[in-house]
Amino acid sequence: MAKEGVEVYKEFEANIIPPAWKDRIWNKDDFKKWYETTVKDKKAVEEWWGKWANELFWFKKWNKVLDDSNPPFYRWYVGGETNLAYLDTDWQIAQGRKNKLALIWEGEPWDEAMEQPKEVRKFTYYDLFRESNVISYALREKLKVKKGEILTFYLPMIPELPLYMLATQRLGARHSAVYSGFSADALATRAIDAGSRIIVTADGFYRRGKIISLKPIVDEAVKICAQNGLKIEKVITVKRAGNELPWNKEIDTWHHELISDVPKNVTVPAEKCGSEDFSYILYTSGTTATPKGCQLPIGGYAVSLYATMKLIFDVKDNDIYWCTADIGWVTGHSYIVYGPLLTGLTSIMYEGSPDYPRPDRWWSIIQRYGVTIFYTTPTAIRLLMKFPEDLVRKYDLSTVRICHSVGEPINPEAFRWYFRNIGKDDIVASSTWWMTETGQMLTGHFPGLGKIFPLKPGTNGYPFPGVTMEVLDDDGNTCPPRVRGYLAMTSPWPGMLMTLYKNSQRYVDVYWSRFKGKMYFYTGDFAIKDQDGYLWVLGRADDVLKVAGHRIGTAEIESAMIKHPAVAESACIGKSDPVKGEIPFIFTVLKQRYSPNPKLADELKMHLRTTIGPLVSSDATIAFVDSVPKTRSGKIMRRLLKAIVCGAAIGDVTTLEDGVAIEEAKKAYESVKSALEQEKS
Ligand code: WT7
Repeated sequence: MAKEGVEVYKEFEANIIPPAWKDRIWNKDDFKKWYETTVKDKKAVEEWWGKWANELFWFKKWNKVLDDSNPPFYRWYVGGETNLAYLDTDWQIAQGRKNKLALIWEGEPWDEAMEQPKEVRKFTYYDLFRESNVISYALREKLKVKKGEILTFYLPMIPELPLYMLATQRLGARHSAVYSGFSADALATRAIDAGSRIIVTADGFYRRGKIISLKPIVDEAVKICAQNGLKIEKVITVKRAGNELPWNKEIDTWHHELISDVPKNVTVPAEKCGSEDFSYILYTSGTTATPKGCQLPIGGYAVSLYATMKLIFDVKDNDIYWCTADIGWVTGHSYIVYGPLLTGLTSIMYEGSPDYPRPDRWWSIIQRYGVTIFYTTPTAIRLLMKFPEDLVRKYDLSTVRICHSVGEPINPEAFRWYFRNIGKDDIVASSTWWMTETGQMLTGHFPGLGKIFPLKPGTNGYPFPGVTMEVLDDDGNTCPPRVRGYLAMTSPWPGMLMTLYKNSQRYVDVYWSRFKGKMYFYTGDFAIKDQDGYLWVLGRADDVLKVAGHRIGTAEIESAMIKHPAVAESACIGKSDPVKGEIPFIFTVLKQRYSPNPKLADELKMHLRTTIGPLVSSDATIAFVDSVPKTRSGKIMRRLLKAIVCGAAIGDVTTLEDGVAIEEAKKAYESVKSALEQEKS
């Protein structure tokens, strides 16, 4: 069986590294006071979040920090008005950062002879301001984009993505960014839900030395949208890779042509947006086949990013900050675009793969720009730690003073490698827990507070002050220390989603109804709180996978599988994987006319690629079985399948579930076993 929960916990505990942190920002006693009072006292919570909000710019100041009169529809900074683009550019310039570098973008192609990247683009705060104003102007004047409209972005890691995000915010419009690893189907579903009439994309981008073409996927999505009653009026394409494209003059326009006749010095005043207007939606997976459109606010979101940048990353004006995420996910929205700019940082954005042209590309980036704060994922660490340590040691990484991770639990080996090689066994390293729904980091270790909260490797640290988090049992009671339960937020926080787009009932049902009679936010994660109050998030408690840190619902995969004519039924589980954490393992029952063969397995993977995207298909395993075990009431027993895949015996697994049809379970067990054997050979 894969190591789980307390097992992992024990392994970490035996290896606690003594805290070697230097005090940095916080006056410890003051901080301790805040921590203690906000846990008990609602007034202190408002004071705390009010204090942070006071550090930001508001067109109109709020008149109440938190209105909790209609839970779970919490309202933060009621009556306040601000704008994310204004905070990220205009306000930075006003604070004297006009010519400070805001963004350093590095393309993937590498010049072997010169030993340097072929393309680097640098943007000062003024450049970002200018260029996003030009885009805002073009969107407003030529495409009639209005306040409140939702634009869909299907863009790779190129500077135009943050530029379009800022341009949209400036107009008080909203974006829905779809990760470029999703398929045409997935893109269309999201565009239809958002009701977008404009999609922004790129011709292609570089990945491991190859050009990946994007625009044709959008063309396909446009057709699907049309079949479903949504007319996409404009597709704006950024020229990045120069690959040949089919072109439809009616709806296609190049980004550079759209802005070519816009005066370079045009300014568009930033819309005064209400705190509780929403800034964007971002779709994420849950336990049903339909993705959820998390609707993030403006005021509370800005405050939450500002406070977490300061407290968890301890940002200073001269930091060089690098978050390696893709902007298509929430980590990139919050901690590549909106957060770092809000705190006036210089931040790095890299287009490509960590192992191109060699697995030392990231270390070379850290050395070349003198990165001081580094934020990455356990999957990336596990990928890179497979290579000889000399590859890292060759580089001067002495500038790094903070290195956090996010996205999935970090296993002891990966943590140790990260801490030793990037953290030099000394600096602040923490696994920061949060989710798309939370908008902001909610846990971590706080630099400068080593004496109060010493580093405990592998833990997720403490909840961010001002929000309370508990580990609960099924009835919503707090679990004793070191007993596994469900992670829940027992109080609201400013970055929180406001609702699910056009589906408030689902918002209430999914997140706020798990613990009877208690208005607690159910995260879907298993966790432990230890005797010192540290949180250990162990993984998902529901049917949601984290594949290389990417979140995907098993129901989404199963519902895609069933659309293939050969598939009668399928059951997807997460199989543990040494690098990706989890990979989809899909038990597939074929319709009678079909017989299992490797060609069909490939075809089904291809089918997943077109229905969901390479994000799922490249790691998926298809295993053909005669049947999948079900309870007497007809529910697929995924837990049993999981146990079989992890190598449990049949006796162990039948006790797992009530109402198991034992004969069926046995049959399925044999069938699964042979599928596993096949997979190995
Ligand atoms: C899920 C949310 C928000 C960042 C990117 C992921 C898992 C996230 C950690 C961590 C253990 C983590 C949880 C969570 N997760 N961070 N530090 N340690 N697990 O956002 O795609 O919305 O996924 O990622 O399972 O529920 P997301």
